[in-house]
Amino acid sequence: MLRTHTCGELRASNAGQTVTISGWVQGLRDKGSLLWIDLRDRYGITQVTIETENASKEVVDVARSLGREFVISVTGKVTERYSKSNKIATGDIEIYPDNIVVLNAAIVPPFTIEDETDGGDDIRMKYRYLDLRRNVVRKNLELRHRMAIETRNFLDKLNFLEVETPVLIKSTPEGARDFVVPSRMNQGEFYALPQSPQTFKQLLMVGGFDRYYQIVKCFRDEDLRADRQPEFTQIDCEMAFVEQEDILNTFEGLVRHLFKAVKGIDIPTLSRMTYADAMKYYGNDKPDIRFEMKFVELKNNSTNSPLLWRAAGGEAFPVFEKAQLVVGICAKGAAEYTRKQLDELTEFVKRPQIGATGLVYARYNADGTIKSSVDKFFNADDLKKWAEAFNAQPGDLILILAGDENKTRKALSELRLEMGTRLGLRDKNTFACHWVIDFPLLEWSEETQRWHAMHHPFTSPKPEDIALIDTKPGAVRANAYDMVINGVEVGGGSIRIHNKEIQARMFNLLGFTKEEAQAQFGFLMNAFEFGAPPHGGLAFGFDRLCSLFGGAEGIRDFIAFPKNNSGRDVMIDSPSTIAQAQLDELGINLKK
Ligand code: AMO
Repeated sequence: MLRTHTCGELRASNAGQTVTISGWVQGLRDKGSLLWIDLRDRYGITQVTIETENASKEVVDVARSLGREFVISVTGKVTERYSKSNKIATGDIEIYPDNIVVLNAAIVPPFTIEDETDGGDDIRMKYRYLDLRRNVVRKNLELRHRMAIETRNFLDKLNFLEVETPVLIKSTPEGARDFVVPSRMNQGEFYALPQSPQTFKQLLMVGGFDRYYQIVKCFRDEDLRADRQPEFTQIDCEMAFVEQEDILNTFEGLVRHLFKAVKGIDIPTLSRMTYADAMKYYGNDKPDIRFEMKFVELKNNSTNSPLLWRAAGGEAFPVFEKAQLVVGICAKGAAEYTRKQLDELTEFVKRPQIGATGLVYARYNADGTIKSSVDKFFNADDLKKWAEAFNAQPGDLILILAGDENKTRKALSELRLEMGTRLGLRDKNTFACHWVIDFPLLEWSEETQRWHAMHHPFTSPKPEDIALIDTKPGAVRANAYDMVINGVEVGGGSIRIHNKEIQARMFNLLGFTKEEAQAQFGFLMNAFEFGAPPHGGLAFGFDRLCSLFGGAEGIRDFIAFPKNNSGRDVMIDSPSTIAQAQLDELGINLKK
């Protein structure tokens, strides 16, 4: 070993010992008669001090030849420091070296390897191996490791088996786009990389492995965002002989265990919300329930709710008259928002990504008066009714959007989150975990003019809704559920169809002919003929779970070597072209 200790472990109790530590030169200070080297490794930083009068010439010369990020090994005596530092764990001691060996020189790094680095995103990604030396990134990966270990411990105790499933599989038309891999031995044919091991875990259930899990890479060719990577990791799980309730309880247990073991936090039993309520009260299937601010509908044509507002006198407010939905939120204590702040909010909802046409507001002033942006149309009595509907108190601000039902809900959901952020209600160290249940089985796509499976085609309808499949497919609810933490969908799953006939009906509904269904999923339907147990499961987005635990917005810094927003790995420069010979071998002709 080129070290007896790490750079993070020496304390005053080690004083007097001769030790060897190795690491990277974090910093160097030369005051003439005194030289300091901060030596860093994964475990911490240790100060090496050289008194040029007392040290050997060789030690002084080597020390003066060092640069940032040189890799060195230092042997010397641990000495208790005269002036101690409480900034680092080894701050009580320093090492007076008898010998310094340069294990490797280093060129000047393109950014400083410190917590607050001067490197931008692009440069840090290009030199990711240097970024990994920074505390912040290393801590994130340590957290990820701990999460994986605790996941395995928990599931192992419950008899789950970790089974690996193949990575070169078959392309399927449902879900996101596949990444495909050409087959040399079967020219013109392609493997697909798994979007998830879904069908394999179901086959494992048919194979009798009644409790399966896998911490597994999944691949999806979709547009990237802060919480999406083209290759990401799932904690993928499946159980046989279970009902929805068993799955919810088991995996709620896993998440509560992770919070306790990794963060020392006791999470209360998870509350449950139906998909229908999530959409009605939060406009979103993954509501952030760290704060209330529920939607209140003033008008809803589709459910014929009574109008809670009335135009004063003759003139009606055309925006509300025309709207399918008039819906709002009450921001507690925000009545004092300035005109400028309200204009900002109006601009916010009018951005193309949000798409509202305008924002109506009503300030419930501390003196009990209510002033709205539409005073011309509504009198004090009308506004009092609004306040009652919103359960608003003096000091509150009511914000209202109107328009097409779906768009307006979505826009108000964004506004609600924005207000939550502005009012400091979304503290990253507060965790609100819950289940969203009873998702619809199907969703209609305007683009393809057909029904698509909302979760995936293997999800079972609720038995009591099966009768609606042919008459009212959109109303059929599924035994499907998502776990949501702080507004992030961290996991989702369902009870599966294990009956060949229902599965065939489902494929039919999704627009597959019998032949297409057989060609795509025949292996699964055939397997169901050989005694498939009732089964269900779910998968957690492991990167998302880690980033939530780490208090970060994006998942990138919890992945050792992530891709950028264009799906590129700028460090290894991938994707890249391949040689003509390789293309020829694969039988791929890129020229049209
Ligand atoms: P689903 O598609 O909901 O379900 O995925 C499960 C979880 O994976 C995470 N996730 C992602 N994380 C990072 N980057 C991505 N591109 C990405 N896509 C999804 C989310 C999501 O909740 N086979 C089913 C599970 C099942 O039914 O058992 C599945 O994959 O956190």
